[in-house]
Amino acid sequence: PNDALVVFTPSGKRGRFALGTPILTAARQLGVDLDSVCGGRGICSKCQITPGQGEFPKHGVTVSPDALSPFNKVEERYDSIRGLKAGRRLGCQATVQGDVVVDVPPESQVHKQVVRKRAEARDIILAPSIKRVLVQVEQPDMHDPTGDFERLSAALATQWNIEGITAPLPVLARLQSVLRKGDWTVTCIIHDPATGSGPRLAEIYPAFDERPLYGLAIDLGSTTIAGHLCNLETGEVVASAGLMNPQIRFGEDLMSRVSYSMMNEGGAGEMTKAVREGMAQLCTDIAEETEVDLTQIMDAVVVCNPVMHHLFLGIDPYELGQAPFALTTSDALNLRATDLDLPLHPNAALYMLPCIAGHVGADAAAVALSEAPEKSEELVLVVDVGTNAEILLGNTQRVLACSSPTGPAFEGAQISAGQRAAPGAIERVEIDPTTKEPRFKIIGCDLWSTDDGFEEAALATGVTGICGSGIIEIVAEMRMAGIVDAPGLIGAPEQTGTERCFLDGRTYSYLLYDATPLGGQKITVTNRDIREIQMAKAALYSGARLLMDKFEVDSVDRIVLAGAFGAHISPKHAMVLGMIPDCPLDRVTSAGNAAGTGARIALLNTEARREIEATVKAIHKVETAIEPRFQEHFVNASNIPNAVEAFPHLN
Ligand code: FES
Repeated sequence: PNDALVVFTPSGKRGRFALGTPILTAARQLGVDLDSVCGGRGICSKCQITPGQGEFPKHGVTVSPDALSPFNKVEERYDSIRGLKAGRRLGCQATVQGDVVVDVPPESQVHKQVVRKRAEARDIILAPSIKRVLVQVEQPDMHDPTGDFERLSAALATQWNIEGITAPLPVLARLQSVLRKGDWTVTCIIHDPATGSGPRLAEIYPAFDERPLYGLAIDLGSTTIAGHLCNLETGEVVASAGLMNPQIRFGEDLMSRVSYSMMNEGGAGEMTKAVREGMAQLCTDIAEETEVDLTQIMDAVVVCNPVMHHLFLGIDPYELGQAPFALTTSDALNLRATDLDLPLHPNAALYMLPCIAGHVGADAAAVALSEAPEKSEELVLVVDVGTNAEILLGNTQRVLACSSPTGPAFEGAQISAGQRAAPGAIERVEIDPTTKEPRFKIIGCDLWSTDDGFEEAALATGVTGICGSGIIEIVAEMRMAGIVDAPGLIGAPEQTGTERCFLDGRTYSYLLYDATPLGGQKITVTNRDIREIQMAKAALYSGARLLMDKFEVDSVDRIVLAGAFGAHISPKHAMVLGMIPDCPLDRVTSAGNAAGTGARIALLNTEARREIEATVKAIHKVETAIEPRFQEHFVNASNIPNAVEAFPHLN
């Protein structure tokens, strides 16, 4: 016969092809995911495949040793210069000579799957908005007077199906010299956002250019700015960095920043300048750390809350400070990084996820993208714990969202011994219910405070205070040990049976640790601290409960705690406190920084951008401020764990 069977693994796709057909061509015709950047010219090596040998009973094929053509000149040259791994062939050069089974290794797949650590999380399929293609452009001809750009555009359409490319002026200005330098073969870096405008020529290099392409996923928080630098062709996170948001000097929380802009002429402008400087610093830091040239960063995705969103864009957040909390724009934005003073490639793109509502921002959208409640058969409650808690509740039927003003207590602010999570901060606490004696762990030390050698080990950092997760644990432990009652009062020594409780003004406090021998302070929990935590957790709970009312349910199937802080909360303690509704404890999981993960997904997969834009439109927003039941839930939720709701899973 003059044709043969070609079976691709792992896809299992198969077809008969004329002898002499290149494997890349066969793959294209069958829709097999086999990469190519040079269009089959034997330059890029992205098309590598491994032909099988011998019998393949599963596929009903016996492969003879000469099922593929021998190495041709192009492959020989490639192999001698760059070296092909044993058994590998270039799919664009090897042609079909007989029945063959061809394996496409993961690195040769265009839509590679990017590894995520958590099993329950969605997979990230690599399909970024930036791609590299090699094109051969027709030379100009006296008889056919078209422009160089028009011929490049035609070549992109015929060789890569990229239609309607546009080019910014600085690229056009270099076009002629690059085309001639590359002898009419050029590498185009194409930016093709899934939404908004069509493809754009972001950069052009002579001949085949392999310098890596990077993108930045940034979670712009009110307290910290965190970024991940990703290789856009492998999906790998090559570096991560974070810094404090320099806007902090205008106010710790968002509302104080909004009021700063209201009270000070030009205040919003100052804050815009500060946050952009912070963002630029993050870009520089991360590039320096990895020795990546900033101009190799071609794309960025930013997620943030609505106030940060407006301030970063240079929009006065005034309207966000008052009902009805109207956003200037809630849609996703396709911008240029240079518009926001980011020192990336001059044509780098910047995508901002859509905001859900005036109080529920692009960070919540990113959490939704990462956790995909709309794809969950089970009813899932996703809580992003921060100064403002963003809460999502949903399943495949519908998704509701709200935000709840928890305040900064969970971050250690307004707590007498509270502090940010840093070495020396108490993060884990246990109290013996009989003796009422505590033991704890601090960040930066593996020992419990009751272990031998703790004090020597703790000397390096000291025991400096209690961080957010520590505060949640200690209040819950105090409740379980009977030191605090359900309404939130710390008992007297005679009631609690421990001298650690002492009269401190008009109420009692609990002495957790006396750090004075280590040169520190006494670390106590006051009744005011308990109050602060009660308020914060009641706000969080009421938001969640309100969404459950709207969903007409009394329980949820699972709970996801998101946010850098959420990752450290112990589910049991959060439930003892009544921070989250009752749920089987093993169904409470932590998603880590889900907003950051959502940003990374949007960076690596443009389809996900389209998806989240549609999801956000379908999310039903609930405004806690105007819901009468919110107050009612709040009052009940001030008790520990709750005045009216049952927590059967705590028994
Ligand atoms: Fe580029 Fe084969 S497609 S080397």
